[in-house]
Amino acid sequence: MAGMTEVIEINPEHPDPESIGRAAARIRAGGLVAFPTETVYGLGVNALDAGAVRRLFEAKGRPAHDPLIVHIPSVQGLTQLASEVASVAEKLAARFWPGPLTLVLPRSHAIPPEVTASLDTVAVRVPAHPVAHALIAAAGVPVAAPSANLFSRPSPTRAAHVLEDLNGRIDMVLDAGETSVGVESTVLDLTSDPPTILRPGAVTPEMLREVLGDVGLAGSEGGPMRSPGLLERHYSPRASLTLYDGPHAVEALLRDAIAAATTGRRVGLLLASGDLDSAAFSQATRHAVADDRLTIRELGPDLPDVARSLYGALRDLDNASVDLIVARAFSQADGLGVAIADRLRRAAAGRVVHT
Ligand code: TXA
Ligand code: MG
Repeated sequence: MAGMTEVIEINPEHPDPESIGRAAARIRAGGLVAFPTETVYGLGVNALDAGAVRRLFEAKGRPAHDPLIVHIPSVQGLTQLASEVASVAEKLAARFWPGPLTLVLPRSHAIPPEVTASLDTVAVRVPAHPVAHALIAAAGVPVAAPSANLFSRPSPTRAAHVLEDLNGRIDMVLDAGETSVGVESTVLDLTSDPPTILRPGAVTPEMLREVLGDVGLAGSEGGPMRSPGLLERHYSPRASLTLYDGPHAVEALLRDAIAAATTGRRVGLLLASGDLDSAAFSQATRHAVADDRLTIRELGPDLPDVARSLYGALRDLDNASVDLIVARAFSQADGLGVAIADRLRRAAAGRVVHT
């Protein structure tokens, strides 16, 4: 599609029904509408309209073999999309929906193959954000929605990020401010035994284990293949990103950043709040910052804060036109830390310095 992208500001808690009605009508008419969810902004189309789904892939520059998540207003919509809803799916839905959990189930024939990249499964979620919920309910059709970014860019957590990537390529954006979780939903494959986390998120492995007992994590040693979309380099800033792990991460990262800045390169630093209070933040670093050779973003103090601001910080550093980014690994083996570590690892495409 070409032309203007309409931006509608909308109250995140009490969305105005008239604005929701206009956005829902666009979706029913085959349009592309970006909207906030509690995780990140999604780009929604009617999941039953194969033509609209193809236009969506084109607008994002997304390869056709990467399947989409279908969003529904409540668990009742599941029987239309899935050929079989196991009791474990019902248990998980009762516990975690609406919320940041996506379930992969055997698909029904209602879903065009464009949505699922011709897989025999479908990914479904019931988002918790009041705007997302109101829009999907008003549309009256299941809404296929990937994150509303250009392929391989960090997911958008603000409407401004959506416009950065897709202005003029989509019909409408509902702007409800910053999203609260900041990383995409947990994707859980229920067609494997035990169920497998294909993408970690805010519904953590520990939370899932409480319901499921055993749960696998794709990508871990001996684990099964990830979902098709997860094979690619993802969530990438334009500048190359290197992670620093281990007890001397901050010292090593600052040393390398200053060395690079000394050779005239512009360096972005992604640090944990408090890192700059350390003795490692030397006079040399302060000078480089003053000279505009180092651009620093601090994340935190806690993991929910890191998750919320991670993608925005990567975009900010890109917009500051840095040549390279050096980042704290924020490595954590549990809770939300699993999702944060996963996104950073992929943004870094495997470049990790262990100290
Ligand atoms: O939080 C979210 O999940 C956001 C919001 C908008 O809901 N959506 C999102 O969509 O992150 P997307 O398209 O950026 O990521 C969907 C992920 C991809 O990694 C895709 O490969 C996987 O879900 N996926 C979709 N359908 C699948 C299926 N049938 N089997 C396995 N993986 C699937
Ligand atoms: Mg995405």
